[in-house]
Amino acid sequence: MRSIFADRDRTKQAMSKARRCGWAKDLGLRVLSYITNAVICHLPSYTLRHAWYRLVLRMEIGSGSSILRGLYVYCHGISRQRNPGITIGRNTVINRNCCLDGRRGVTIGDNVSISPHVFILTEQHDIDDPAFATEGAPVVIGNRAFVGTRAIILPGVTIGEGAVVATGAVVTRDVPPYSVVAGVPARPIRKRRSGLDYQLHFRHFLE
Ligand SMILES: CC(C)(COP(=O)(O)OP(=O)(O)OC[C@H]1O[C@@H](n2cnc3c(N)ncnc32)[C@H](O)[C@@H]1OP(=O)(O)O)[C@@H](O)C(=O)NCCC(=O)NCCS
Repeated sequence: MRSIFADRDRTKQAMSKARRCGWAKDLGLRVLSYITNAVICHLPSYTLRHAWYRLVLRMEIGSGSSILRGLYVYCHGISRQRNPGITIGRNTVINRNCCLDGRRGVTIGDNVSISPHVFILTEQHDIDDPAFATEGAPVVIGNRAFVGTRAIILPGVTIGEGAVVATGAVVTRDVPPYSVVAGVPARPIRKRRSGLDYQLHFRHFLE
């Protein structure tokens, strides 16, 4: 009889410890998100912002790439196991006030131009699930792609090398290389010329 009570006490203690740990993790994540998205992203220094993104959020940012002010980052934490994170290649520009959702992973290639106010999302709610559970998939953007202002890229989309997403488009399906897509939902409007060889470099003072 005594052992039944002892077992029950141990279970209660374990559950309460798990609740405390969950609460502490959640608080840590909220603080991390606040510092990243309300403080760091507004600092008028690439060096400081990039240092935080690299060292604290473990984002990979290639040489010559720039993340401008106002970035909103979604993440599940700083551990690589829990957070597939964000990888940005070389000479890529993430313009002002973009949103990168690293919860299921975002991979952006070299010389990619992401215009202001672009949202790249990797997680959403399963709207038919009784518990409104989350689901998602990574987004991949190929080298020298160009994403116009206020475009939205939905979870699981791959944008091919050299592809163009017009301003205001909502991209729900993969975009083949060198295709230009526009509209809601985004549909092909034409092809882009291949053989591109430009190198982007965007680093303006106080941007
Ligand atoms: C994608 C883009 C480059 C296409 O330019 P383009 O090849 O010169 O295309 P056109 O203007 O000739 O348009 C071709 C067709 O697509 C349509 N179209 C172009 N952009 C569109 C858009 N954003 N949404 C919906 N349709 C669009 C045009 O109306 C036209 O349709 P029509 O043939 O029926 O008349 C350009 O529309 C765009 O979105 N630029 C991005 C601007 C931007 O974000 N700048 C910030 C840089 S930091």
